[in-house]
Amino acid sequence: MREERDVRLSDKTTLRLGGRARRIVHAESPEEIASVVRQADSSGVPVLVLGGGSNLVVSDDGFDGVVVTCAFDRVTIARAGEDIVRVTVDAGMNWDALVARAVAEKWCGLECLSGIPGSVGATPMQNVGAYGQEVSDTIVRVRGYDRVERKFVDFSREDCAFSYRSSRFRHDSRFVITQVEFELEESPLGAPILYEELARAFGTSRGAQMGIVYVRDKVIELRRGKGMVLDANDPESVSAGSFFTNPIVRADVVLHVAKVAGVDPPAFPADDGKKKLAAAWLIERAGFKKGEPPGAVGISSKHALALVHRGGGTTRDLLRVARSIRDGVREKFGVDLKPEPVFVGCAL
Ligand code: EPU
Repeated sequence: MREERDVRLSDKTTLRLGGRARRIVHAESPEEIASVVRQADSSGVPVLVLGGGSNLVVSDDGFDGVVVTCAFDRVTIARAGEDIVRVTVDAGMNWDALVARAVAEKWCGLECLSGIPGSVGATPMQNVGAYGQEVSDTIVRVRGYDRVERKFVDFSREDCAFSYRSSRFRHDSRFVITQVEFELEESPLGAPILYEELARAFGTSRGAQMGIVYVRDKVIELRRGKGMVLDANDPESVSAGSFFTNPIVRADVVLHVAKVAGVDPPAFPADDGKKKLAAAWLIERAGFKKGEPPGAVGISSKHALALVHRGGGTTRDLLRVARSIRDGVREKFGVDLKPEPVFVGCAL
């Protein structure tokens, strides 16, 4: 395994924020990561599992413990039916490299998740989703190292307790995800398009199926327009993607929001008769503007849900802006925005 000492975590997060860590260990197999984590746990040293750093807010004080990464990325393929493949992927594989491979092989089910930064092992945690697909649609098994029982455990899709941007792994550091298995259908057409904006971009309507290669290209184009594709030439992409989740609220809250705003909010059906509101819309209607405030950290000029680090800032700056947005939306609409990234050593 490879080790780095005295590392700036700002070099490891897409926000380019965060203090130092004394030690980062890049484990080259599941067994290696288990051994590092076991040793740290036995000696009471805190552990931070780092994926692509794209959904992480790290304190300016850094992390006083051992940071580990999964530096293993094998893919194995098995056939599970005439048109069905089971793709088993190590946690350390780059997510978009997997999606690109799936699209090239005409394995359908991940194409709408194109252009998302991060590693495969991080995707079950927050049930990554975009443009009508979520990883929980195609994940059939997750393997994790259990830090309590000190052994590897397999979770079925049901065991993962997936929900919108969450899973059993989200608020529990007991399991270190080392491998994910997907079941994908072989088809030159992508899955039926469920997301209005994507259908519109194709000049079609929801339910239509388009060539899987075109779906990938279109999704990347849409994401790029929102500053949501990591790009060294796009300063608006220095962010953690969506900073807040879209709040899921009761129908009476939607009515209240409509009354306060004087117009019906965009609202999408969710479980139990609830509605999912668009956090970006609430933020703008609460008076926050894209591109503001000026300074080191502010709202992206391309999408109201992303906070962008423009350089020279601190995590404290980021939290200050995020709190003012959260408080402003609560004051105006009585809706609580919840942050989407994982926080290390700090909180909103
Ligand atoms: N909107 C605004 N202002 C904006 C942008 C959007 O008012 O600047 C309103 C519009 O009414 C729009 C609605 O918000 O129709 C929804 O916007 P969008 O389609 O861009 O999606 P989102 O709900 O903001 C979610 C995910 C994204 C994912 C997109 C596309 C969450 C928290 N975010 O964003 O995921 O890419 O849908 O599927 O669920 C991420 O999680 O980091 C992420 C980027």
